[in-house]
Amino acid sequence: MSNTVLVTGGAGYIGSHAVLALLQNGKNVVVLDNLSNSLRAALDHVENICGKRPVFVEGDIRDSALLDQVFSEHAIEAVFHFAGLKAVGESVREPEKYYDNNVAGTLTLLKTMNQHGVFNFVFSSSATVYGCPSEMPISEETKVERPTNPYGRTKLIIEDMLRDFSDADERWNIALLRYFNPIGAHESGLLGEHPQGIPNNLLPYISQVAIGTLKELKVFGNDHPTPDGTGIRDYIHVVDLVEGHLKALDFICEHKGLHTWNLGTGTGYSVIEIIDSFEQVTGQNIPYSFTERRAGDVAESWSNPAKAKVEMNWVASRTLEDMIRDTWRWQSNYPAGYASTPTPTH
Ligand code: NAD
Ligand code: UFG
Repeated sequence: MSNTVLVTGGAGYIGSHAVLALLQNGKNVVVLDNLSNSLRAALDHVENICGKRPVFVEGDIRDSALLDQVFSEHAIEAVFHFAGLKAVGESVREPEKYYDNNVAGTLTLLKTMNQHGVFNFVFSSSATVYGCPSEMPISEETKVERPTNPYGRTKLIIEDMLRDFSDADERWNIALLRYFNPIGAHESGLLGEHPQGIPNNLLPYISQVAIGTLKELKVFGNDHPTPDGTGIRDYIHVVDLVEGHLKALDFICEHKGLHTWNLGTGTGYSVIEIIDSFEQVTGQNIPYSFTERRAGDVAESWSNPAKAKVEMNWVASRTLEDMIRDTWRWQSNYPAGYASTPTPTH
């Protein structure tokens, strides 16, 4: 094994945490990112934490000539595939962009991997593939339903594509990792989420309210069929999530074929519970008001993560308090995310 991992989307939120974890675990890392939703400064922060930096290639996963060059120049053992667009609302307005970037991009990547004899692949899927879930908690046995938006459908299409590749050629070793709701930041306060524009997701929105960038949180619906009427989700610390990727890589290198795991904590919290915890942990006041339900939102989504525990010995160990404390440390240190730091010179 060459010990080098290609991380697509490695300058992004989850990808940058994965790059750090890989470097800290003695791997060589090549990042391929087109910086469409991230800044290169994230990799400077990785270096500040661990004293190492990945090779960085600025480019697009749809560029097959560039991919060919990357695989020719580096002895890549495995790919962590984070690159993709993820804004649900935008995917409804501009589906073509999503099918092109996510589906066509992944196909280009897989074709190049095949040409270069690289078959270890860890894919960022999402609980969105369970659509309107037929049971709670959600296990990997829960029926996969039609996702409620084009973004979600790109994830399901890619999962199906990977299953077909695996069925057709036994050299493929694939992990489908279905994330629940990743939040939090590295405990150093140096790495975190850097949403561009107004955040779509709950925690980045709440932290921008807390820091004063946004005025108040709109809670989408208080009439869901949940105990307090607000949506319930399974929030997972981003560092636990990336630890799941490292375990998945070890697993697929030893157990051939395609494997699917939920990455969640197994506990759901409502929006109101998140607001209350955020206020308690940070001492900040979060003004909020109720508004209409958001189109496509499910009332509740939380995981049964037992399969990952049994098969990979992975559990999410960080608490909601850890997630909020780390989010707040990052947000307070870098109110404008990586744009708060000087422009990187390398
Ligand atoms: P992110 O936007 O922070 O990171 C994605 C990175 O990919 C960005 O750095 C972006 O510049 C890059 N990128 C996008 N298209 C590219 C392309 N064509 N070529 C090269 N680079 C490209 O998002 P994230 O939150 O870190 O998510 C990472 C992955 O996890 C995505 O595939 C996302 O769909 C998936 N996921 C995220 C969540 C979540 O809540 N954050 C939940 C489930 C699944
Ligand atoms: N919410 C609000 N106000 C906001 C933002 C969110 O009330 O301003 C609520 C939502 O209605 C939901 C909860 O907070 O009940 C969590 O919403 P997020 O947008 O943070 O997360 P979602 O579960 O809706 O979406 C996430 C990812 C998607 C992924 C989906 C399923 O962002 O990419 O999980 O895995 F598809």
